[in-house]
Amino acid sequence: MRQTLAFDVYGTLIDTQGVTATLEGWMGERAPVLARAWREKQLEYTFRRGLMGAYADFDTCTEQALRFCCEVLGIALEAEQEAELLRCYRELPAFADAGSALDELRAEGHRLFAFSNGTAETVSGLLRNAGLEDRFEDLVSVDEIGCFKPDPRVYRHFLQRANVLPQQAWLVSGNPFDVIGAQAAAMRTVWLDRARQRLFDPWGGEPTATIGSLDELSGALR
Ligand code: 2OP
Repeated sequence: MRQTLAFDVYGTLIDTQGVTATLEGWMGERAPVLARAWREKQLEYTFRRGLMGAYADFDTCTEQALRFCCEVLGIALEAEQEAELLRCYRELPAFADAGSALDELRAEGHRLFAFSNGTAETVSGLLRNAGLEDRFEDLVSVDEIGCFKPDPRVYRHFLQRANVLPQQAWLVSGNPFDVIGAQAAAMRTVWLDRARQRLFDPWGGEPTATIGSLDELSGALR
């Protein structure tokens, strides 16, 4: 049966740790520490801005998180290095399974959407660069309504934009907070647990399906 699939972008289709190679050339073994801290702080900023009702777009959260993490870790970046890193972040690589899985799902007739905290401009550039942009019927950005995942308005906005009922829509995400947010909006969910560690927040609900790779997604929808 034809399904509507909302794909989270950062951490699901696109590898946020893809900056590590650039960082390694500059700081060796501290590279993964900064890459992880940066991602965590970036998300923390979205959550805090959401609670405060003080929206600033995802690019701003990304940039401010980088500055803060460098400060905390005592890493002094030149202005050109910071600009280079932010450029890398706009050109992060796709996970190796993304293109083939999206092709398979499209061939099966499913409706595919990119659904992200990122701005439409940044996410479409990211997907274009990764060779994924043409797989999607549309891109839905939280920036259209000025709040971040997992605010319930974000999932309602997606459903409205895709013109679909929650029970007929799936969120596919590697981010448990996103999965739980979509569940709360009555959507069906697929948690992409790439680490296969089953570290899912114990809030009393389970994703509709859990997969370890996007290659398993088509089978999980049946
Ligand atoms: C995204 O919306 C949550 O970062 C994740 O793409």
